[in-house]
Amino acid sequence: VLAVGVESPTNIALIKYWGKHPKYEHLLIPTKSSISFTIAGLHAKTLLKVESGKREITFHLNGKKIKETQSEFDYVRDFFDKISGTYKFANDYRYEISSENDFPTASGFASSAAGFSALALAFAKAMAKLDRLPELNERQLSVLARLGSGSAARSVPSRGGLVIWHRGFDNAGSEAEVSDLSYAETLYEPSYFDGLSVIYAKVESEREKKTKSRAGMRESVRSVYDYWQWVDYEEKTLLPAMLNAVREKDWVQMFKLTKQASNNFHAVCWRTDPPIIYLNDKSTEIISTIQPLAYAAYTFDAGPNAVVFALRRQAEDVEESLKAIVGKENTYRTEVGGGPKDAEL
Ligand code: DP6
Repeated sequence: VLAVGVESPTNIALIKYWGKHPKYEHLLIPTKSSISFTIAGLHAKTLLKVESGKREITFHLNGKKIKETQSEFDYVRDFFDKISGTYKFANDYRYEISSENDFPTASGFASSAAGFSALALAFAKAMAKLDRLPELNERQLSVLARLGSGSAARSVPSRGGLVIWHRGFDNAGSEAEVSDLSYAETLYEPSYFDGLSVIYAKVESEREKKTKSRAGMRESVRSVYDYWQWVDYEEKTLLPAMLNAVREKDWVQMFKLTKQASNNFHAVCWRTDPPIIYLNDKSTEIISTIQPLAYAAYTFDAGPNAVVFALRRQAEDVEESLKAIVGKENTYRTEVGGGPKDAEL
């Protein structure tokens, strides 16, 4: 039995991924590029044990065994099905996966990003040790993680910081090319964002039933009548504007565009048929509180919890105003962080 461990950070998108290209859905090719901050202090630690034999998977998440009938298990099985398309030998092993998050799984954040990047990295590491794979480079590793969960590709780059995931299909011909070109890379290291704070505000009390990203985004692509207009606007206008703001360290502009991107994303969700409503009263209260502030931005993923960015100088005040909405115990302040690393077993 070979055992490897990887610790991988989560990430939060400033410009969201929401939808797979219908032609390449099976490869998790996004309709648009996305960018995210890698987050310090929120990780998944994954231990992978590999043994020769007919493929079999056992999966523990935060100490609990996940049954083959649970949706979390489906994602993992799906991942192994997909990678065995490229790497046939993936079917010649038994896998024992134990993954632990140091943040609540049902918090509304893409915990699948941290988990699947750690799993993909652990798989590559194990297969390299077994001489089944050469050492993959970061770009190839992000492509591998993408097959587990799209947003996981953005947690792979070892320098972390601000990461872009290229949609990849613009200049590609074959399917293999499309897949190779849809990778993630660091644009700016964490130190570039010195002076920036990241504050999580937990709105949800516990596991609430909500539409999963994978199903939700499929419905949006299918039913939002101007879906591709939104994609085009974000790809050709918002994304370049955001990158320009970051290049100039124009944080006010970066915050403004971040709020806009979050709002646009939730508008797309609302206009999906049937509507997908992730934000609740507390979320909208956070929006009204932060919206007027030039030195802060909110962003929401597939859930009601907020992630707020603020200049460190104002971060304490911003956190206080968030505490007034979500309660004293429900905020967590951190910063932009680095990438994944090997973990102790
Ligand atoms: C709202 O990466 O979880 O967090 O690729 O189907 O696994 P799959 O979806 P997932 O979707 C994340 C959606 C989002 C936006 C983002 O992180 O970009």
